[in-house]
Amino acid sequence: MTLKALFAASATAALLLALPANAAELTIGFSQIGSESGWRAAETSVSKQEATKRKVNLKIADAQQKQENQIKAIRSFIAQNVDAIFLAPVVSTGWDSVLKEAKEAKIPVVLLDRDIDPSGKDLYLTAVTSDSVHEGAVAGDWLAKTVGTKACNIVELQGTVGASVAANRKKGFDTAIAKHANLKVVRSQTGDFTRAKGKEVMESFIKAEGGGKSICAVYAHNDDMMIGAIQAMKEAGLRPGKDVLTVSIDGVPDIFKAMADGQANATVELTPEMAGPALDMLIAYKKDGEAPPKWRQTPTKLYLPDTAAAEYERRKNLY
Ligand code: AHR
Repeated sequence: MTLKALFAASATAALLLALPANAAELTIGFSQIGSESGWRAAETSVSKQEATKRKVNLKIADAQQKQENQIKAIRSFIAQNVDAIFLAPVVSTGWDSVLKEAKEAKIPVVLLDRDIDPSGKDLYLTAVTSDSVHEGAVAGDWLAKTVGTKACNIVELQGTVGASVAANRKKGFDTAIAKHANLKVVRSQTGDFTRAKGKEVMESFIKAEGGGKSICAVYAHNDDMMIGAIQAMKEAGLRPGKDVLTVSIDGVPDIFKAMADGQANATVELTPEMAGPALDMLIAYKKDGEAPPKWRQTPTKLYLPDTAAAEYERRKNLY
């Protein structure tokens, strides 16, 4: 056995010893971003339900959208010697030091719904996320197909600056529409994944675009910003879903309601069910010591108005 292999084996053995024998005894610290969107609130609530099902003690720390609060929470979880840490990283950089501290304390870290930079790959056990580049591509492809050959000016509401999902959703969308010379993003700004900021930024887009008549479509990196943008369009006398096409990401109940009401056109679903697979992988890892795959990809699905009313009914009291 090489020195490196010996080190890896003893690190795994030490980690296993650090974990209790069954799920009922597990305590996991979850550093959650905050409650900026309906999707985020759903993810928090699903995480609680999934932990309860497995008799896991889940301690959730709400970082109120601030990385510094997430770092503090992780340090506090390390000090409490939790069995594992779940992290939904608000931005993709700046994690190395604190995740090294978790590794030194032999506490496995699982990323939920967002990535960190590849330099941190050795610092976490696994990540449960969607393919967010693909989400952007699905939105772009749908728009290109729907618009056809006419010229279309698009305005884009981006997610939080520095978040992996914001960069990826932009990249996927831009790549998809690059194949269509008639589609052009004329304005793009962050709305920080919130409804209020989405509305505010959309108001400024409408103003800058002479009342919004030249806007053919809105692409928002999440549904909440789109709901805010829909409000801004209605207040400006525009007809979202009719004169202005909309496509966003998440699949929260309110966007299905807007689609059913003819005020939105498409959403790309991101499941909030991330904690269940994460807990199962962690529990299996504790049992057999075999590291799970580095990435567990969650599904991506496009929804259109034809199923919106039924989807709204199905989802409205789900989380
Ligand atoms: O990381 C997932 C994104 O974060 C969701 O699309 C958005 O609503 C949330 O705030």
